Amino acid sequence: MKILFVASEGLPYAKTGGLADVIEGLPKALAELGEEVAVVLPRYRGTKPGAVLRSLTIPVGGQLRFPVIEDGGTRHGVRYFLVDDAAYFDRGHLYGEHGKDYPDNAERFGEFCRAAIEIVKQVWPAEVVHCHDWQTALVPVLLRSQYAEDPQVKDLPVVFTIHNIGYHGQCSHEAIQHAGIPESVYHPGGLEFYGKVNLLKGGLVYADYLTTVSRKYAEEIQTAEYGHGLDGVVRERRERLRGILNGADYAVWNPETDEHLAANYSARELSGKQACKRELRKIFRLRAEDGERALIGMVSRFAGQKGFDLIAEQAHELMKEEVSVVALGTGEARYEKLFRELAREFPGRFAVKIAYDSALAHKIEAGADIFLMPSHYEPCGLNQIYSLRYGTVPVVRATGGLDDTIEEFDLEHGTGTGFKFAEYTGEAMLESLRRALEAHADERIWRRIQLNGMAKDFSWRAAAAEYAKLYEAARGLRGPGHPARNQISTATSK
Ligand code: ADP
Ligand code: GLC
Repeated sequence: MKILFVASEGLPYAKTGGLADVIEGLPKALAELGEEVAVVLPRYRGTKPGAVLRSLTIPVGGQLRFPVIEDGGTRHGVRYFLVDDAAYFDRGHLYGEHGKDYPDNAERFGEFCRAAIEIVKQVWPAEVVHCHDWQTALVPVLLRSQYAEDPQVKDLPVVFTIHNIGYHGQCSHEAIQHAGIPESVYHPGGLEFYGKVNLLKGGLVYADYLTTVSRKYAEEIQTAEYGHGLDGVVRERRERLRGILNGADYAVWNPETDEHLAANYSARELSGKQACKRELRKIFRLRAEDGERALIGMVSRFAGQKGFDLIAEQAHELMKEEVSVVALGTGEARYEKLFRELAREFPGRFAVKIAYDSALAHKIEAGADIFLMPSHYEPCGLNQIYSLRYGTVPVVRATGGLDDTIEEFDLEHGTGTGFKFAEYTGEAMLESLRRALEAHADERIWRRIQLNGMAKDFSWRAAAAEYAKLYEAARGLRGPGHPARNQISTATSK
């Protein structure tokens, strides 16, 4: 089957978060299963491939634009296309700057989505399109409106994955008019959302199948607490929603082969992990006398979703314990400030690097004893999955993928891979961290937990097989004779 991934980021070309890991790992795993896969991404600053289509004509509202379709080459059996329009994509950031979305995001990603559809028509005749998050939601919207009579693509099935329901790509009605999106989709059962436009909602309404990145999150987004105002829309489409857990790419995240580490190690021979810890402590200039203490690591976008409010609340209590903390992240100013202040207050014990640094992320996965993810919500979360493979014990809030991937350690049976807390409170987080520290104090118990985690297999293979089945189901839905064929959603809720 020919499957086209349409996404706004993907390694090795562009990354701001876990989406980019997924857009590398899943296509590769599908190719290994024998599927034919291509990925289309915007060409952001700094990538220089050669042209496939010299110029494509794309109407964007009143104007015509002429993006070039670049050949990103073939990697691991996956073909890459890059949509190149410098005025839209050759910018300092992907989606916005200084905490604000770019005001022309509807135009930018409108053009990108149209270009993806044109790639199907003119370059690579996909049989299924797999879209990801609000940036690509206009693909199903346009297919079911403007392209609804186009014999080449009118029945092209679309699977749409929600990586994070908290990001809507909201804009004004004028913005989508300006982007040339047909008026017919601007209504409460379409893109309209409380008088504005919600691009993500377009994906939820018009795609054939919806997926999200863990089972638990698939349940959570149907509730008001986690639905970010879209729970009603998700509930209406729940028959078409699947929770498919992300995988980990162990070619990239594996302590036996990881080139970023001071020493490689495995479940059979863990001693290299100590060398990684020593190096990490040095990089962060931690006090030499605390070398034996538990080292807590964090790598994260600094965003509200990630639960740093709990750290703000309990950092002083936590630092009364015999621990050191290292954190790597960038994002919202309030959290950068929080981490800087804590580093100032606890010199040599609490250290932060405010940056995006892929090599250091690997070093933290390997060198820390405990990996902390107290997320308020977490659709899947990849770092805790990587941690397991690195023998770094996750302490997580039991939400979304964190709950699905981490099993509470049970001392009596010697089972479990980490420590979890359910209630979103600082005390609950502290309490589970204390459980982890208590276990860490006993070498034999700690080794058991590490080995339990290292033995887990979260490779992409299983997820890829599930997606392949879903693509077939989506094709069946739009095949000849099926009533869903060419039918525009009649959902009416907000
Ligand atoms: P999210 O997508 O919500 O940010 P995930 O856990 O799914 O969360 O994925 C985060 C990915 O981004 C991981 O690969 C992680 O290592 C990486 N990452 C996050 N912040 C940084 C950073 N400051 N430097 C390097 N890598 C980072
Ligand atoms: C989103 C989510 C994260 C998930 C990632 C990849 O960024 O916040 O939990 O792992 O997408 O699906």
